[in-house]
Amino acid sequence: MLPTIKWKKDHIVMIDQRKLPEEEVYVECRDHIQVAEAIEKMVIRGAPAIGVAAAFGVALGILKIEDDKHVEEEYSRIIQRLERTRPTARNLFWALERMRKIFEENRGLALSRLKQSIIKEAVNIEREDIETNRKIGHWGKSLLQDGDSVLTHCNTGALATAGYGTALGVIRAAFQEGKRISVYADETRPLLQGARLTCWELEKEKIPVTLITDNMAGYLMQKGMISTVVVGADRIARNGDTANKIGTYTVAVLAKEHGLPFYVAVPTQTIDVTLAEGSEIPVEERSAQEVREFGGRCVTLPRVNVENPAFDITPAAYITAIITEKGVCRPPYEKSLKELFKRKKRMKKDSV
Ligand code: MRU
Repeated sequence: MLPTIKWKKDHIVMIDQRKLPEEEVYVECRDHIQVAEAIEKMVIRGAPAIGVAAAFGVALGILKIEDDKHVEEEYSRIIQRLERTRPTARNLFWALERMRKIFEENRGLALSRLKQSIIKEAVNIEREDIETNRKIGHWGKSLLQDGDSVLTHCNTGALATAGYGTALGVIRAAFQEGKRISVYADETRPLLQGARLTCWELEKEKIPVTLITDNMAGYLMQKGMISTVVVGADRIARNGDTANKIGTYTVAVLAKEHGLPFYVAVPTQTIDVTLAEGSEIPVEERSAQEVREFGGRCVTLPRVNVENPAFDITPAAYITAIITEKGVCRPPYEKSLKELFKRKKRMKKDSV
């Protein structure tokens, strides 16, 4: 499995995703500020991987605290810095909420013991993420048929998670089961996560992949070259409206027009039960430079006006099913997602 991020006692190591596929370079972070900057600059990206990095960031932050006098205020400041990195990724806030909770549960302990429990929780978040992805793959693989050619958008693989992947995990699981699956990867402008990362991962796994530019999907669908679409998500509202990498909505509309299934694969942490619908999801705006440039070179007028929303919202009506680690949800999502969370609560209770 590919190494996305690893805890190393007093620092973390992550593969620099900005440099792939040309160079496999590893970056070390030794405090929470370095982790926050790595998330902002997209050294590490993909909602679940961002969540894991943030949890490790909190652990690095508390390791640096030497005096237990103001530990609570300092801990809050660490979390607040990490919260300001990528606003759309629900998993970021989920992981930080969990890190806040573990602090509250252990607040009476001596500082050294408190540090240990914080580190343990961050490592658990990483380990659980891999297990969760494998379960998503387990449920999702039956939705793919032998011979399917699957379109995917952005990167949702081992690199976007602690390991294995969500949408790419579903593809991986179906392929490993012996189904002949081939993949069309959207290049995913402006930062080319599809061209740079998805192709790199799939080639390593020997899963047949064909790269297309983002504007080719409609033509390929018209020609009958795509049979299914599987994507990931950064945040899903209670009604199933889904935020994912910019361009996902366009693909979903095309899939519906051509009668193709459109699946979204996510851990349940990505589902934000506090939001009723997609219009409430905060959409990150990134720098104009990302659009003006291609491969680090300006390809337009240096000061031309630019829009750069990093995500779009696909209305639930375009989504055939949402695949999670707890099972597959079908419309109406208001009801099926609610059921899923009830089941999750029951399972938690039973395991106590
Ligand atoms: O801007 P990015 O590269 O962090 O965006 C990533 C995506 O949009 C992914 O599809 C999403 O986070 C799901 S990753 C399992």
